[in-house]
Amino acid sequence: MDSKKIMNEFPTLNIIHHPLLEDKIARMRDKSTPPDEFRRLLKEIAALMTYETCRHFETTERSVESPLEKTSVQILKRNIAVVPVLRAGLGMIDGVLSIIPEARIGMLGLYRNEETLQPVDYYLNLPQNLDKMDVILVDPMLATGGSAKAAATTLKNYGVKRLTMMALIVAPEGVRVMQEAHPDVAIYTAVMDRQLNEKGYILPGLGDAGDRCFGT
Ligand code: PRP
Ligand code: URA
Repeated sequence: MDSKKIMNEFPTLNIIHHPLLEDKIARMRDKSTPPDEFRRLLKEIAALMTYETCRHFETTERSVESPLEKTSVQILKRNIAVVPVLRAGLGMIDGVLSIIPEARIGMLGLYRNEETLQPVDYYLNLPQNLDKMDVILVDPMLATGGSAKAAATTLKNYGVKRLTMMALIVAPEGVRVMQEAHPDVAIYTAVMDRQLNEKGYILPGLGDAGDRCFGT
């Protein structure tokens, strides 16, 4: 699909094009890439994507004194919180923190029931005052969209007002589900793949991100 068509059909989607991302994703797709390299690549990709994912965050004016004179500067308007979806989202957290070391971190545990593909939640631990922060939901894979939709709903129920999603690879089916349920949530990705298979896996994808990350 050309980029104009993608923009029309998927208004909440932002695809980050960069040769470094393409090269690293190529290595992650390769089934012979072992877990240690897979984890390193995921972390590096998360760092690169974070820079672009925060592009729309608001800043506010402050004044500082440089060694030479007082000047007005722009600083981030809000604290940032990052919420990885366990397990695979954990593989992205160090990359995000290498760019935003001061970010607060929440944890959201979800897995897909392998038969129904419906998300099952098993853990939630979030920082307080998320309503005042810019929150980034982090998960490498957006497939049917069930997990992302449930995660975004949970975060909004918890008070989150400004939510952005960062996903390494998305499927068109999942983006549609997300933009229908959460049209206010911008999604940043490195690539939109072709489709899902009958088991809800992204094609061509990279397989099960959690399993490949943690060697299970
Ligand atoms: C993967 C992935 C997402 C979800 C995406 O997690 O990390 O959370 O699948 O699929 P969906 O869009 O169809 O919901 P998984 O359920 O495999 O859990 P895991 O990370 O613990 O392996
Ligand atoms: N979850 C994954 O880890 N990979 C897929 O392709 C789909 C869902």
